[in-house]
Parts: sequence; C-alpha cells; structure tokens
Amino acid sequence: MMSIRHFLQFKDFSREEHQYLFDRSRWIKNQFKSYQQYWPLTDRTLVMIFEKASTRTRLSFEAGMHQLGGSAIYLNTRDSQLGRGEPVEDAAQVISRMSDLVMIRTFEQDIIERFAANSRVPVINGLTNEYHPCQILADIFTYIEHRGCIQGKTVAWVGDANNMCNTWLQAAQVLDFKVHVSTPPGYELNPELIAGVDPAHYAVFADPMDACRGADLVTTDVWTSMGFEAENEARIKAFADWCVDGDMMRVAHPEAVFMHCLPAHRGEEVTAEVIDGPQSVVWDEAENRLHVQKALMEYLLLGRLETK
Ligand code: CP
Ligand code: NVA
Repeated sequence: MMSIRHFLQFKDFSREEHQYLFDRSRWIKNQFKSYQQYWPLTDRTLVMIFEKASTRTRLSFEAGMHQLGGSAIYLNTRDSQLGRGEPVEDAAQVISRMSDLVMIRTFEQDIIERFAANSRVPVINGLTNEYHPCQILADIFTYIEHRGCIQGKTVAWVGDANNMCNTWLQAAQVLDFKVHVSTPPGYELNPELIAGVDPAHYAVFADPMDACRGADLVTTDVWTSMGFEAENEARIKAFADWCVDGDMMRVAHPEAVFMHCLPAHRGEEVTAEVIDGPQSVVWDEAENRLHVQKALMEYLLLGRLETK
C-alpha cells in the first residue's frame, strides 16, 4: 500500500518525480491524440472544491478524470456547507471517506494544508493565494514540448509576485533553472513564500526590460489576482509599466516563447501583439493542463507506471 502523497506545492515532488510526470504526460497526451481509450481510474471519484472562479482548472480536471475512466464531482462554497462555516478539518474527514482524490481551489494555503492533514486521500492544489503548482506543471511541459529541457534556462517574470510567480521560483529550485523577476515597487516577492529557493535560482530587476533581456521564456499574469479585487484601482496605476510588449520580446532570446496562465487582459499585463503573436504558446499551455493533470492524478492514485 503506497503512503498518501499530496500535491500542495511544486516542491512536494522531487526533480525525478517531475521528470516522470513530464514523460508520462507526453505518453498520456499521445494516447488521447490518437483516440486510444485509457481507463486506469475506473470507479475512482475526484471531488473538486472551488472557493474561487475557474474555467480551465475545472474543465481540465473534470474532463481529465472522465477520460481516465473515473468521475468528478464539483462542489463550490455557495451550494455546499463549506461556505457556512463547517470546519475544514471536518469537511476533509467526510469528503475523503467518500472519494479517492480531492482537488481544491481556495484562498490561504493554510486551508489546503489543514484539509490535507485530515484527508484519507491525496489532495491537489488547484490554486491558492500563494501557489498554483498544476499550472506550472503545464507551463514547463509546454516549454519542454516546444524547446526541450528547461534546465539552465532563464524565465522572465513580469508583474505581480503572486501565486504563479512563487511557484515558478519553486520550480526553478527543483528543476535547476533561473527566474528573472520584475515587479512594481510595493508588490515585491514575499521571502516567506519562497523559503528554500536558493538565490542562485532567481534575480530581481527594477526594470522589466532588464528581466526580459536574453530570457528563454517570458511570462506574466493578471495585475489583480482573485481575492485581491479591492486593490484593483491602485494596481492598475502601479502596474502600468509592467505590460509585456513587443519591445520586451525583442530583447529576449530570439527563440523565446511567451506564456500566460490565462485569463488574460490584452492592453494590461500583455499587448495583443504579443499574446496573439508568433512567440505565444498560450493555447498549448492551456491544453496541457489536461494532460499533465491526468498524469498527476494517475501518479497520485496508482504510483509510478512504466511508460512504454
Ligand atoms: N489558468 C487557470 O487556472 O485558469 P482558470 O482560473 O480558468 O482555472
Ligand atoms: N494569479 C491569478 C491566476 C489565475 C489563474 C489568480 O490567482 O487569480
């Protein structure tokens, strides 16, 4: 019997485990693209708990579980007891007795940690205020598909030091690459959230152009993340110069790709020229959520399988 593993932060898995997941994702994607039925999770149930909105995460987990032969149940705060003050520990006890796997999108990381500590089944982080590990799995898988191994490469992060940025830094530590971070004053990295990331794996730049210089991958995200809407007006002013545009892409490596986890706001964090331009891989990036999460769910429930 395999002990329970959770995927709450990118660093929960070793470099070797991530490498396995990328190899496995490629195989699972190929099966799917060649219309091969693959049902290793027959009779398994995924419960998805959403305390924030979602298009991609819900769709990719629900479709992914279905494609693996299992089923998925959607719960949100509005229609369940979760929004009415039931302790997260109690919810974890009950939900994990009726299901095989749980995915949670919520606010503080502490909520998902407490849920996992009381769960009988694996728990996956589908985004918290602090981290978004499933998205970074998809992003790195997408980079590997387009450009090969990410080890030794440089990723430019332009914008808010948010859940995506923190997770990129964790990934840089685990997979041995570097992140160039440029945030507006007042929105800098929080050292507590990137604890354990060696300073050799990131550098901070006041000017986003400098962060992008020579980068192999340029990426950004919304100026205002879910849960921070009250700050929107102040953020629009503070982030005005942190818009990824053609000039930033021109100083990056000529082969650089552009990524965005989506949803995007053209004219705010990225220009239409860039996100709809030839260096953008955002649609592959979005699709790959499906494939990497299928590999992740398979791994958490069945352990390591031989990839033919
Ligand atoms: N990128 C991402 O997680 O998208 P959703 O908010 O639509 O799930
Ligand atoms: N940083 C964004 C990502 C959305 C997928 C947020 O947390 O809202």
